[in-house]
Amino acid sequence: MIVAIDGPSGTGKSSTSKAVAAQLGLSYLDTGAQYRAITWWMVHNGIDLTDPGAIADAAGKPGIVSGTDPLAPTITVDGADVSGPIRTTEVTSKVSAVSAVPEVRTRITELQRWIAESAEKGIVVEGRDIGTTVLPDADLKIFLTASPEARAARRSGELKGADVKATQEALIKRDAADSSRKTSPLAKADDAVEVDTTELTLQQVIECVVTLVEEKRAEK
Ligand code: DC
Repeated sequence: MIVAIDGPSGTGKSSTSKAVAAQLGLSYLDTGAQYRAITWWMVHNGIDLTDPGAIADAAGKPGIVSGTDPLAPTITVDGADVSGPIRTTEVTSKVSAVSAVPEVRTRITELQRWIAESAEKGIVVEGRDIGTTVLPDADLKIFLTASPEARAARRSGELKGADVKATQEALIKRDAADSSRKTSPLAKADDAVEVDTTELTLQQVIECVVTLVEEKRAEK
């Protein structure tokens, strides 16, 4: 059972994906963390992020490993745990530029496919292009949405009281960059089920997705 969960930031993708995977005994992959990890490495190593050629040349250098236990997901770069450093505002503001470079996407996409194929119990993979590009044959595709206001309010809550307006502006800018890039932009697959989470609690979203997965399992 391969479940693809895509959508913009602040729709509850990560919390939902982890909870659904844990509840159903599936593995879990946070593909955004992989793009953040490669971005962190580039910042850390002084790569010029205004130069797509420099990003492309460096794309193959960091060794990225994702742990897929939904109760304790991990991400390392060359053996170092970067789960904290990849969430800084610096990495968040630069990740769209790095993830738009085709060489970066090719490398990370290959890694994602390999992880999904190796997941014996099945896997929930969350991201932006999982249903459209990475795993177009996924058993179930879900596209989460929410109003920009709801998304910004959730994100600023996660960032412990950050300014909602500034968060909303940054989020809209990042979504616009992720949706307009040439190589596998953020998009809903034609066969994805869209779930608008604006008026739903996290628990309701989780229940909705668990039901969709169980229905799909029953069909198989
Ligand atoms: O889900 P997140 O906010 O941690 O993702 C960080 C960035 O990574 C996001 O702005 C775009 C990029 N990303 C991507 O291009 N493709 C994916 N499948 C997942 C994330």
